Amino acid sequence: MLSQLGFLFVAMALATGRVVRRDSADGFPNPNATQLEFIEDIADGTLSDAPPPPSLNESSIPIFQLISFNEYFEVAFFSSLIENITTDEPGFTLPTEKKVEILEILATVLAQEQLHAIDASNVLKHFNASLIPEPCEYVFPGATDINSSIALAATFTDVVLGTLQDAAEGLAVNGDLGPIRKVASIIGQEGQQSGFYRLLLNQMPSQKLFLTTNVGAFGWSALQQFVVSCPFNIGEIEIPIFPPLEVAHVKGGQTIEPRDQRLSFVANLTGSSEAEQLINETSPDLFVTYFSGQLLPISVPIEDVEWFGENNAQLRFEAEFPFEENILVGLTIAALTSKDNFTTYGEVVEVTIAAPGLIEVTEEGLSWDLLSEEDL
Ligand SMILES: *[C@@H]1O[C@H](CO)[C@@H](O)[C@H](O)[C@H]1NC(C)=O
Ligand SMILES: *[C@@H]1O[C@H](CO)[C@@H](O)[C@H](O)[C@H]1NC(C)=O
Ligand SMILES: *[C@@H]1O[C@H](CO)[C@@H](O)[C@H](O)[C@H]1NC(C)=O
Ligand SMILES: *[C@@H]1O[C@H](CO)[C@@H](O)[C@H](O)[C@H]1NC(C)=O
Ligand SMILES: *[C@@H]1O[C@H](CO)[C@@H](O)[C@H](O)[C@H]1NC(C)=O
Ligand SMILES: *[C@@H]1O[C@H](CO)[C@@H](O)[C@H](O)[C@H]1NC(C)=O
Ligand SMILES: *[C@@H]1O[C@H](CO)[C@@H](O)[C@H](O)[C@H]1NC(C)=O
Ligand SMILES: *[C@@H]1O[C@H](CO)[C@@H](O)[C@H](O)[C@H]1NC(C)=O
Repeated sequence: MLSQLGFLFVAMALATGRVVRRDSADGFPNPNATQLEFIEDIADGTLSDAPPPPSLNESSIPIFQLISFNEYFEVAFFSSLIENITTDEPGFTLPTEKKVEILEILATVLAQEQLHAIDASNVLKHFNASLIPEPCEYVFPGATDINSSIALAATFTDVVLGTLQDAAEGLAVNGDLGPIRKVASIIGQEGQQSGFYRLLLNQMPSQKLFLTTNVGAFGWSALQQFVVSCPFNIGEIEIPIFPPLEVAHVKGGQTIEPRDQRLSFVANLTGSSEAEQLINETSPDLFVTYFSGQLLPISVPIEDVEWFGENNAQLRFEAEFPFEENILVGLTIAALTSKDNFTTYGEVVEVTIAAPGLIEVTEEGLSWDLLSEEDL
């Protein structure tokens, strides 16, 4: 497939940090039959030839809108990463042999994500959804060199791996058994990617016994940080968007050490109706609620509360991160909530004020160094 790489990279956006919509040789997002075959060839497989399910519950439309939106984001991310490595963007230079191999792997990932996006769009088209997402313009905060870029890929893939659990459950609740098998297949596929990114970062490829769950609304909210603008109204997709919950990090990126610790959080609650009546309260009855693995949501009270900024609408606080008791290795997803003590994940969404905060606990690295210039 390597010979096709040059062709694939033609006409990609310049590495300005933003990806504009590509008019590339593969015709994505609307490839014709020849172009689709070309993408399938690189993706090492074809789209399913099974007929679409006979019906789809209206409530399942936002699930496919979220999947489609996310896949378009992933396509843009990997296009940008490939572009950066191909053009030896500072921080993205690799020795020739590694460069060729990593580009081949990423070209395959890109084509696979393109087909995931096309597949989700096809479902929305078939069922005449009132809004079918298209590629947007994006930024990739924090992705400034190969390591930070792969770390970002690892984290957003972890978030997707949790969000797709919610998608599968949502489809089941909505009586849409048909697409669940394919969602499960994509979960495994993204899991294989995650193992590869983790290995590049010298982390154990399999992160946890059960991967951290998520809810659609938090996955959707997390995606907003990457969006500059879209050619459609995001507000028409019927999933709530929460104000982000920033975690003030101990080390760079999302990564913190594996131990009990207090974390600092900041949330900009401007315009949040739930927050309005709380402003200036020094001990509001609020909690940080964490998702980790398949544990029930873990809630801890917030402490050392401080309101600041314009209209005092920004909230800074601290909360315990109970690592030891729960072995919070890998991804933890945090939300600022007005209740504690949950028995389901969906209940958390109902009482969320800001989310998600993404926390990755990484352990001592493996001893080899896949991205170093010496080996691989
Ligand atoms: C590609 O490089 C640009 C410029 O350094 C950077 O802003 C962008 O985030 C990079 N993209 C990825 C996916 O790492
Ligand atoms: C698809 O588009 C490409 C590029 O425009 C063109 O060369 C090719 O003939 C088209 N194939 C079909 C089946 O329309
Ligand atoms: C979608 O709309 C088309 C044209 O209006 C119609 O023929 C088709 O049956 C609709 N599909 C579904 C699944 O409702
Ligand atoms: C459609 O989904 C809603 C919400 O989950 C559910 O209440 C309803 O029973 C579903 N309809 C069918 C026909 O399964
Ligand atoms: C807080 O959010 C409001 C509304 O989204 C925005 O206008 C404002 O610039 C934000 N403030 C900061 C400091 O980010
Ligand atoms: C919060 O306190 C600030 C500073 O004391 C004050 O200016 C502001 O009016 C108060 N806001 C509310 C909603 O009580
Ligand atoms: C949590 O809720 C359950 C059922 O609603 C209740 O039995 C239990 O006592 C509560 N636990 C705490 C720690 O509040
Ligand atoms: C990425 O991390 C590896 C391993 O820690 C290191 O050898 C390499 O120099 C880093 N690359 C960049 C561009 O920072």
